[in-house]
Amino acid sequence: MVKICCIGAGYVGGPTMAVIALKCPSIEVAVVDISVPRINAWNSDQLPIYEPGLEEVVKQCRGKNLFFSTDVEKHVREANIVFVSVNTPTKTQGLGAGKAADLTYWESAARMIADVSKSDKIVVEKSTVPVKTAEAIEKILMHNSRGINFQILSNPEFLAEGTAINDLFKPDRVLIGGRETPEGMKAIKALKDVYAHWVPEDRILCTNLWSAEVSKLAANAFLAQRISSVNAMSALCEATGADVSQVSHAIGFDSRIGPKFLNASVGFGGSCFQKDILNLVYICECNGLPEVANYWKQVIKVNDYQKTRFVNRVVSSMFNTVSGKKIAILGFAFKKDTGDTRETPAIDVCKGLMGDKARLSIYDPQVPEEHIQRDLQMNKFDWDHPIHLQPTSPSTINQVIVASDAYEATKDSHGVCILTEWDEFKNLDYQKIYNNMQKPAFVFDGRNILDVEKLRKIGFIVYSIGKPLDKWLKDMPAVA
Ligand code: NAD
Ligand code: UDX
Repeated sequence: MVKICCIGAGYVGGPTMAVIALKCPSIEVAVVDISVPRINAWNSDQLPIYEPGLEEVVKQCRGKNLFFSTDVEKHVREANIVFVSVNTPTKTQGLGAGKAADLTYWESAARMIADVSKSDKIVVEKSTVPVKTAEAIEKILMHNSRGINFQILSNPEFLAEGTAINDLFKPDRVLIGGRETPEGMKAIKALKDVYAHWVPEDRILCTNLWSAEVSKLAANAFLAQRISSVNAMSALCEATGADVSQVSHAIGFDSRIGPKFLNASVGFGGSCFQKDILNLVYICECNGLPEVANYWKQVIKVNDYQKTRFVNRVVSSMFNTVSGKKIAILGFAFKKDTGDTRETPAIDVCKGLMGDKARLSIYDPQVPEEHIQRDLQMNKFDWDHPIHLQPTSPSTINQVIVASDAYEATKDSHGVCILTEWDEFKNLDYQKIYNNMQKPAFVFDGRNILDVEKLRKIGFIVYSIGKPLDKWLKDMPAVA
């Protein structure tokens, strides 16, 4: 019987292993983590992450062929295939700080695998890692192996949060990279056989190790680049009277460009895009490719510009000051259908508004109050100048309250900012919201989900990313 162990019970490890367990009843899957609260949550009715469809999958397999445990060593020792899905955040200190991936967790997992293993194993890189990590991991495992044979595979994960279960059920592709040796090919086949339980064979792509590692960074860089490209166009649209939705629609009709991932927004967030592009930038710099590094850096710079532009638009529209004004923030997660706030644009936008002394009333259907307060109290990490952290003054936190619904958040406010595209925000009673707000009442739609004409008829002054500006906004000073 094949036994799988996955180290790291996070946003990737948890859902991915739950789907493997569901689709492969003959395989025993253990998901292990050093975090006791996380494992306890996976074993409870309150799963540690919100992901549509996840609960049903976990309930069907947990206790049958899917187990969550903190006994990391036991499950690693017993497994034939060990996935490593630990976090690989951006380094905040030392060499490469602000850009390079921090592989501390990865290395400690690899050393532990070498220490506890008593039989041959396939070790699968599930985390997103710099190219050539497999070589480093191989060295760690081989030098400590006591004669045990380890085969390293790269099997990067392409799921997106909020649609993880669907993405795992019907992946566009599964990518497996391995050594081009007979042992490497055998290992690739063993992992391919796992996915072949539900993924059509022509969607399982096999490559060499380095292509698989680079492909993951490249895919995220290309996706993020589309958003920065359309967001750059949104600024031009606002300046000229073009409508970015019409532009996206028109260019997306070209089958070479395609319609997906062209929604202008307040900026991309999430735990992957910025981190992985910074990592790519660092790898290019280390390989003596400064032009390539600068090219990809620009994708992040445009993203930062888009967030700043949004804050400036809010402030300039409201008579150039939001000091003491109540601003409602609807949505704090980095996208809809997740409670994840890692690198959410809401953090930078809220901090920008707080910098102009606004009072914020924040509501998100899935983000608990303590996470919002924690995120807004954390120092902003400046990736270009990692040594000079910008401290958040403790007093600013008194400027934030967290509301339990959108109506409470918007009551008596001067302006409303939509920062996450939750479906429930599309169907709010905006007449009721308008009646309970200070006048003039502003709406700043950072996700282009609202019906602008309908809101204008109610009486709102509306700003929507990349859309023709209404007269009020045109007359206000230009946004830098
Ligand atoms: P996460 O922080 O949610 O989960 C990582 C887990 O690993 C944590 O629970 C942590 O406690 C655990 N861990 C760390 N060191 C450990 C150790 N030595 N032993 C046991 N457990 C350990 O991270 P995530 O979002 O699941 O991402 C994991 C990896 O997958 C990252 O490299 C990320 O870039 C990549 N990835 C993430 C996504 C996504 O949408 N979140 C998508 C694709 C790829
Ligand atoms: C991303 C990749 O899509 C996924 O393949 C990879 O495995 C992990 O990183 P994720 O970060 O979970 O997934 O979400 P994604 O749907 O890519 O959205 C990222 C950010 O881009 C969000 O803040 C989202 O709101 C924003 N976005 C997305 C836009 O602003 N416009 C778009 O058109 C699409």
